[in-house]
Amino acid sequence: MQAKITALGTYVPERIVDNHYFESIVETNDEWIISRTGIRTRHFAAENEYTSHLCAGAAKSLVEENNVTLDDVDFVVVATVTPDQTMPSVATQVQDKLGLTHAGAIDISAACAGFAYGIILAQGLIAAGTHRKVLVFGAETLTKFTNYEDRSSCVLFGDGAGAVLLEAAPKGNILAAVTGSQGDGGKDLYLSNLRKQINGQDVITDNKIHQNGRAVFKWAVNTVTEQMSVLAERSRMKLQDIDWFVPHSANMRIIEALCNQSGFPLEKTLESISIYGNTSSASIPLALHRGLREGKVKKGDRLLMIGFGGGLVYAGLVVEWGNP
Ligand code: UT7
Repeated sequence: MQAKITALGTYVPERIVDNHYFESIVETNDEWIISRTGIRTRHFAAENEYTSHLCAGAAKSLVEENNVTLDDVDFVVVATVTPDQTMPSVATQVQDKLGLTHAGAIDISAACAGFAYGIILAQGLIAAGTHRKVLVFGAETLTKFTNYEDRSSCVLFGDGAGAVLLEAAPKGNILAAVTGSQGDGGKDLYLSNLRKQINGQDVITDNKIHQNGRAVFKWAVNTVTEQMSVLAERSRMKLQDIDWFVPHSANMRIIEALCNQSGFPLEKTLESISIYGNTSSASIPLALHRGLREGKVKKGDRLLMIGFGGGLVYAGLVVEWGNP
């Protein structure tokens, strides 16, 4: 059997925060944020709203919008770097909330590449024949781990969740995958509350996100441009055959740079950065859901998705969109 992505759902918390909000917290302004990042608004989770709650919201959307049932889901993967707590996993809390009596459950940590990693793992479980119906979430409450004294990062992040259902089918719809990592860049994007060093360098252990924006920007553009070609080749296509490019929404300028370098048309990209900010593992499903809602993505369209981020780590997929 092969793995087929059959449904998608998303959820964002109610509270919308615009750029002006940050003007009273740090020295910044709406114009800088829009021109340097493309972000106009983002959503903040409520004080008592955690990543597992966002996952439950995404699962509800998936069920309601796709006419599917979760009754016989046998595995749950939650990709997140902002879990409710370290133990128990978010996935077990989601399993409980959704009443998935017979499901295995794990969290995975691959930052903004987590959603693509989760799908690749789920695909492997289904191809191995051990599982038949897997729910994969990319979900974050980044605003709970944001350093509101750092103007270069606090304006970036938002909260949200996305979920896909993968099912065993005679013919799957995942045409190619790629994964990679570069651990020597770990110090450039981190969230640490214990160990005081990364890559032999001192880091701040305040349980907040810290980023060397310029270093990550440069790495992301070079790496993702290269991996776009690898993915096209592995799916025996040319980049021109891809209908929609769905990169991780970290910064609109990164997306523009990727299009410039690869020659892929910007108008055929899907983004979630402008209205949701950088939502890490949730950004790709949020962008895709927007594309579906706006009637851009059609059945049979070929999507090239690539996540990249803290680790440093990346993962990408080419998917022939099915029937959600
Ligand atoms: O999601 C995981 C992967 N993450 C990424 O891919 C993020 C990649 N990096 C980025 O998106 C960008 O590097 C940032 C958005 C984080 C920063 O943008 P930048 O254009 O690289 O800015 P910069 O760090 O080079 O800073 C340029 C200037 C600096 O001022 P000086 O030193 O030139 O006087 C900053 O202090 O902009 C200043 N600055 C700000 N000014 C107003 C930084 N943040 C702000 C701000 N408002 N919020």
